[in-house]
Amino acid sequence: MINYNNILQQKLDSLKQQGSYRHFLEVNKSAQHFPNFYYKNNEGVQRSAINWCSNDYLCMSTHEDVIAKLSFVSHRSGTGSSGTRNISGTTIHHIELENTLAAWHKKEAALLFNGAYQANASTLQTLGKHINGLVFISDEYNHASIIEGMKAAGNEKKIYRHNDVQQLEEILQSIPYSQPKIIVFESVYSMAGTIANAKEIIALAKQYNALTYVDEVHAVGLYGPTGAGIFEQESLQEEVDIVNGTLSKAIGVFGGYIAASKTVIDFIRSFGSGFIFTTSLPPAICAAANKSIQLIQQNALYRKAFHDNVILLRNVLHENGVAYTPNQSHITRIHIGEAKRCKQLADGLLQLQGVYLQPINFPTVAKGEECLRIIVTAKHQPKHIHHLAYSLKKLLYGKDTHNRQGIEAITVADGEDEA
Ligand SMILES: Cc1ncc(COP(=O)(O)O)c(C=O)c1O
Repeated sequence: MINYNNILQQKLDSLKQQGSYRHFLEVNKSAQHFPNFYYKNNEGVQRSAINWCSNDYLCMSTHEDVIAKLSFVSHRSGTGSSGTRNISGTTIHHIELENTLAAWHKKEAALLFNGAYQANASTLQTLGKHINGLVFISDEYNHASIIEGMKAAGNEKKIYRHNDVQQLEEILQSIPYSQPKIIVFESVYSMAGTIANAKEIIALAKQYNALTYVDEVHAVGLYGPTGAGIFEQESLQEEVDIVNGTLSKAIGVFGGYIAASKTVIDFIRSFGSGFIFTTSLPPAICAAANKSIQLIQQNALYRKAFHDNVILLRNVLHENGVAYTPNQSHITRIHIGEAKRCKQLADGLLQLQGVYLQPINFPTVAKGEECLRIIVTAKHQPKHIHHLAYSLKKLLYGKDTHNRQGIEAITVADGEDEA
């Protein structure tokens, strides 16, 4: 008899041995006290800590107007949509949100999914299955959802070294001009924090007759005059064919989408299994996301507060001698390079310093690239930033220099109300 549990347990044991086993901490959010959150430690005692790995970049998930919209529409329309888009799951809130997204990305149309993962996986799979001979040309750092979509399609796939446009061109040259091809990349790479060279990629796509597909998940809300992303910042929105984004990070609500030409959207709507055969987003979620986007578009100050904090964080890390990997984006990485040490550091930061930083291990990053990834948000205060730098210095290098701001911040982390 086959012992299925044994087969699975062996895989789990091997993860544990490598230090890559995932432990979920209860990060009990407080809208009022964000970035503070509450958790129970190993002794079952309630503690509070500062969250340094939330993707709520602009803190829109705690914005009063967004919360109010969600509550209002929930009361009016109920909780779930209870239907696929085709079978009673389309409301005015879905349509309005898709219109907002299309206009934001300067595209003819947009299509909602239950997450950007699903949007990537379904769209790429559907394109691959229906465009004969389509070759995927993909950056080696692309997200798991992109890889999953291409794999499911089963088409030929060519990988170029991360952000290496020269190798991208060599690949494009190796494929006949008349053969369908699509370049798939991210604008801001979620783990490396690097930014794609959008201009060069678009120019190559035009020269070699390729479609372009960009994942702007970590850029929407944060870059460009109205926050539409890197392509808005670079004035290239009309040049890219398909944009993918999330409603769950900077927008602070839930869901994902693509934006493209009317034909592309109609095609994915009509042939994409991951779009067709699933219950649509709750109407109130759509209304709240729409509200959040409108606020983001109108308030450049949200973005300024966020980017000012990124600069302050990096300056303070530098002043404290804490080495981080430089990049052009808002994602700050501290290279550790070893899974067990990464986990030990993260445990120490939480237990001793009230700092919550999730260790990033394989398979999220390649082995040897294990890191602590810091996400600062618009609501982190200078005292939080100083305390983080002090804590990192202490745990990484064993330096326990007296730091007044650090000590003040520890008091905050222990539960003081600082709304
Ligand atoms: C680059 C990238 N694409 C897609 C996703 C999936 O987004 P979602 O959480 O909306 O499914 C993520 C992360 O979650 C991501 O980092």
